[in-house]
Amino acid sequence: MPTEHDQPATHAEGTDAAPLAGKHPAPPCALVIFGAGGDLTKRLLMPALYNLSSDGLLDEGMQIVGVNHGARETSDFRDELTQSLRKFAADRASTFHTSQLNEKAWNWVVERTQYFAGEFESDDTFEGLKQLLSTIKTGNVVFYLAVTARFFKPIVEHLGRAGLLKEENGNFRRIVIEKPFGTDLASAKDLNAHILSYANEQQIYRIDHFLGKDTVQSILAVRFANALFEPMWRREYIDHVQITAAETIGVEGRGRFYEQTGAFRDMVPNHLFQLLGMIAMEPPNSFDAETVRDKKAEVFDAMKPLTAQDVVFGQYEKGPAGPGYREEPDVAPDSQTETYAAARVFIDNWRWAGVPFYLRTGKRLAARRTELSVQLKTVPFRLFRDTPVDRLTPNVLTLRIDPAHGTSFDFNVKVPGPVMEIGAVRSSFDYADFFAERANVGYETLLYDCMLGDETLFQRADSIETAWAAADPVLHPKDGPLPVHGYAAGSSGPAEADALLAADGRAWRPLVDTRKKED
Ligand code: BG6
Repeated sequence: MPTEHDQPATHAEGTDAAPLAGKHPAPPCALVIFGAGGDLTKRLLMPALYNLSSDGLLDEGMQIVGVNHGARETSDFRDELTQSLRKFAADRASTFHTSQLNEKAWNWVVERTQYFAGEFESDDTFEGLKQLLSTIKTGNVVFYLAVTARFFKPIVEHLGRAGLLKEENGNFRRIVIEKPFGTDLASAKDLNAHILSYANEQQIYRIDHFLGKDTVQSILAVRFANALFEPMWRREYIDHVQITAAETIGVEGRGRFYEQTGAFRDMVPNHLFQLLGMIAMEPPNSFDAETVRDKKAEVFDAMKPLTAQDVVFGQYEKGPAGPGYREEPDVAPDSQTETYAAARVFIDNWRWAGVPFYLRTGKRLAARRTELSVQLKTVPFRLFRDTPVDRLTPNVLTLRIDPAHGTSFDFNVKVPGPVMEIGAVRSSFDYADFFAERANVGYETLLYDCMLGDETLFQRADSIETAWAAADPVLHPKDGPLPVHGYAAGSSGPAEADALLAADGRAWRPLVDTRKKED
């Protein structure tokens, strides 16, 4: 039986936008955003909807309901959203279609947006929402939980109890859940169990915004669309892999959240493990969501649980980039929260046995740099033994995620001249040299995929739990909390993180590259 989902979608007559080539508008749906007054809604979700609208990827039947506590008129809510969007468009022209707002595309979104006042834990809110949704023509609903984690359980429970998660007449009911999904293995299991008692796994879209980045999605393209890389993608040729997510910003007024979370929970079992999953997974048979997610799940399953010896924590102190973490607002003067974490991870399977994956992330570091570097083993030196060459530099393939988008490959050539001298060079590709910049705040694909019902870029319950299982021993260490080492704000992290690699005869790639042709 044809469902609303199957009907050809009609978009956006009011925006003049033709859908992007090869894409069609998402099915009509109501997007109910809990936490409509928050930063995520203003800074990312509404701008992403605006970009989708400009690209002609939303259906005429789309409706947006912003839920938050506190009475507010829809017209005031719309004005507030418009003001923040105008500000972002002016500040960050590259992430929008123009530095001037495309009024038609924005009006198209804002006209479909209404405000709904309600407490997240009150029955009345959900009865009221039920009433409201019954007046919206489409039966498809995406509930987006853009709220702090403590509201995840009560909101899902209320949605379930109010019958709002029941999928009838071919309509979908989906829930998008932001991170942090739990704070350790036990809490993630508990959260999964709770949510799954009100909704099916297929209705749950656990977001990791790193997977919304084009450059992250491109990891699979680089690996599987090129004959060059896959043959060497194994322990016989790869010495080790480094995954870095270094930031120059501090905790940006999020001291209260960060005090309880720390760099490890904030970034490692989610963002960095997701990158690791993309780089380490076996080739899937297709890009079908379950096939891809199965392959990624196998990686997390094969991860050896971390030990205290595999992990280094750090905290920034006063340095060239400014004051120390303990001087930040809402941070305890004797805080032991880590703002830096480095980890050595092993994947115990046929492809990767014995190959270390070194992960690091931190605030107030010397550079903003998210990248993955795959370092190959060096060739036998024998050939060069009677030449002036005293050492060979290993080949390194680097996939640059942020802020530069591209790849580079380090290899060796002969230095011009009469003697056999070897020089390390770099061959680089930048997306901007080949492709037009696309307006993107990172949530467009995720929202669009969720409306389409494509779960490839979302995390499944089992993967969330296996990832936390690998991280758990350092979150609850048997011998007491791990030491937190100081590093100067603006430096490359604590010396102990360098020692972690030095003990294996290796070194981190410099955060600030002084080579001539970098980025
Ligand atoms: C978030 C973390 O999930 O990711 C932040 O909570 C961090 O602390 C951010 O700054 C980094 O994301 P991006 O896309 O800016 O690299």
